[in-house]
Parts: sequence; C-alpha cells; structure tokens
Amino acid sequence: MKSGLEDVVAAETVLSDVDGANGRLIVRGVSLDELVATSRYEDVLHLLCDGFLPLPDDLPAALGAARQAVFAHVVAADAAIVALPPVEGLRALMARLADGDDIDPALQLVAAPAVFTSALLRLRGGMEPVAPDPALPHATDFLRMLGGTVPSPQQAAALDRYLVTVADHGLNASTFAARVVASTQAGLASAVLAALSALKGPLHGGAPGPVLDMLDGVGKPADAPAWLDNALARGERLMGFGHRIYRVRDPRADALKGAVRLLAASGAIEPQRLALAEAVEQAALYLLRQKKPDRPLETNVEFYTALLLEALGFPRDAFTCVFAAGRVGGWVAHAREQALGGRLIRPMSVYVGPRPQVAA
Ligand code: ACO
Repeated sequence: MKSGLEDVVAAETVLSDVDGANGRLIVRGVSLDELVATSRYEDVLHLLCDGFLPLPDDLPAALGAARQAVFAHVVAADAAIVALPPVEGLRALMARLADGDDIDPALQLVAAPAVFTSALLRLRGGMEPVAPDPALPHATDFLRMLGGTVPSPQQAAALDRYLVTVADHGLNASTFAARVVASTQAGLASAVLAALSALKGPLHGGAPGPVLDMLDGVGKPADAPAWLDNALARGERLMGFGHRIYRVRDPRADALKGAVRLLAASGAIEPQRLALAEAVEQAALYLLRQKKPDRPLETNVEFYTALLLEALGFPRDAFTCVFAAGRVGGWVAHAREQALGGRLIRPMSVYVGPRPQVAA
C-alpha cells in the first residue's frame, strides 16, 4: 500500500477537478482563470453549494446575516482562547456552532472564520472586536472587521481573489477529513471542525507563515541561492514548493501572483519585498530541479499567499485561518455531497503487529 493513499480514488465529486499533469483546476465546470476573473467569493459559494443546500435568493445578504449571527459567539473568546495561536482559537470558537444540515448552520460555518479570526486578532491586540456589516461583500467585511475601516477596493479585491482561488481543490487532506466525518452523518459543524484541524498542519494549510520566515531568513535577493542551498543540505523542505498532485506549476500560484502584482502596483507591497520573493522563487526552483531531478517540485499556492496576506495586514500566524475562510465553502459543499450521496467511509488497514502466541 502507499501510506499517503496517492492513486486511491475515495470519492466521486462534481465539485472540482485538479489536473496535476497539466496544472489546471476546474471548479464545477469553470476554470480557475475564468473564476478569478468573473466571480466574487459569494458567487463561488453559490456555484459549489447549488443543489446541495437550499440556497436563498440573495446569498450575499444571507451570508451577511450569518456573519452577524456568528458574531454573538465572540463573547466566548475568553483570555485563554485569545492566548491560543489564532487557528486554535478559531477552532475553539467554531466548536460552539451547532451541527445541522440546513442552510442557516451552513452559512454560519462559512461566515465563522472571517468573523472569529478578525475578532481574535483584535482582542489579542487589546482592541474591541468590530461587528460585521451585513451589507458589505464578505471579503470587504472581513478586512473591515480586522482593521476597523473599510479597505480600499484593491485590498478588498485581492482578498476576494484569494478566497475564490482557494475555495475548493479536490480531495485534499482537509476536504477528505470533512467527507469522512460527513459520511457518518455527524453534521456539518463536525465535518468542518475536522477539516480545520487537518488544514492546520504545515504540510497542508500551515505553510504560508513559514514562507515569510524563509524570506526573512534569506534577507536579500543575492543571498537566496546560498541560503536555500544550506536549508536543503540540512534536509529541510522549502515552504511553498511541491505538491502531491501537481507535477507542473500550481495554477493557483499564478492567480495569486497576479493579485500580488496588482497590490504592488497600488503601493500596498514594497517593490523590494516582491523582488526578494521573486528571487527566492527562482533560486528555489533552480535548486529543487538540481537536487530532485526525478521529482518535479514547483511553486504551490502557499508561496504568493504569504505575500498577499502579509500585504493585507494579517499576521503570519493567522494565515491558516484566512485559508480556512476560503476553503470552508468547499468543505461545506463536499460534506453535503458526501452526506447526500455517499456511504460511510470505512477503509481497511493491514495488521503488521505481533500475533498472540499459539501454544504448541
Ligand atoms: N522542499 C524540498 N524537498 C521537497 C519538497 C520541498 N518543498 N517537497 C517535497 N520534497 C521532496 C521530499 O523530501 C522527497 O524527497 P526524497 O524522495 O528524497 O525523500 C520528495 O520530494 C517527495 O516528497 P513527498 O513528501 O513524498 O511528497 P508529498 O507529495 O508527500 O508532499 C508536500 C507534498 C507535503 C506539499 C511537500 O511538497 C511539502 O512538504 N512541501 C512544503 C510544504 C508546503 O508548501 N505545503 C503546502 C502545500 S499546498 C497545500 O496544501 C495547500
């Protein structure tokens, strides 16, 4: 058996197709390129959940109302929860949301990462949480709840593009976790909590924070080759590179690089920061090709995510929470697809431990 279950097909889905050989992502019939060019996060949520949940006529308004409903739980963020790493604080607050398979609990789960992450970060900084404005688009309100003022159109568009880009991605580890729990008919909140827990790890959604640590470690473009060479010699992995499925460049990396360039053009990213990132990317790709000629290792979604979320004012230890704010749409849709059409997921293991002694 392969311990990472690669090549194992564990679900049929209409939700997304990850074409690893050609570097293409399709979300319910729409290519990622088209999706980022034409859709807001609310549109993608509609696309993903259509047929799996009874969607209201005005989904953006319903999502705004869900943000307000979820904000009532912010009072539970006591000092112990605020002191946790943000993703653990988010997990603790999301555990308060009730299980259920209807539209209201589903939208509250979608709203929760944006509402709770902003509130937790403000409380950690000694500031009052900012209540949602249900009339605003989700991405705009997320940044407003974080910073206390309505963001610029460029900032809101950049976060929206990020949320759209990461909304769904086949049977990744967190989505699989959601489907396993959904297959037991445990309910949506339980499925989403399992997914969030899987997302937290550095091999999945926890990588973009360490990408910035790497940029800080490198310091200046000219030092990138030597710094990265040393890291690889120590047996370290370069964060933001490599992917289980993609054997070519992750198409999401380009979607986000485009957003990062737009932010840089608007002055929200220092030109030196972008130049450093591009130098690190080039040096990393060169070295990975030299050191691992048999294993294509290309830039993944997390590399430019790091720059984008840094420029939008998110602290690096909260990047996974922002990832969750996008991916939660996919988790909910997959959980519903599994619960409605799938069977209990219960694979086999091969016992390789000792056997009881049999008397001669
Ligand atoms: N840097 C250096 N070497 C790497 C990297 C990397 N980023 N990624 C894989 N390798 C090497 C491994 O060391 C291994 O080498 P070996 O065969 O000599 O031991 C070989 O490539 C294959 O690695 P696997 O672990 O088998 O590949 P897997 O498909 O399990 O890993 C993963 C995929 C976890 C994403 C990996 O590439 C990695 O750790 N990347 C860095 C972390 C990261 O960026 N995570 C975010 C992924 S995107 C997402 O989940 C949203």
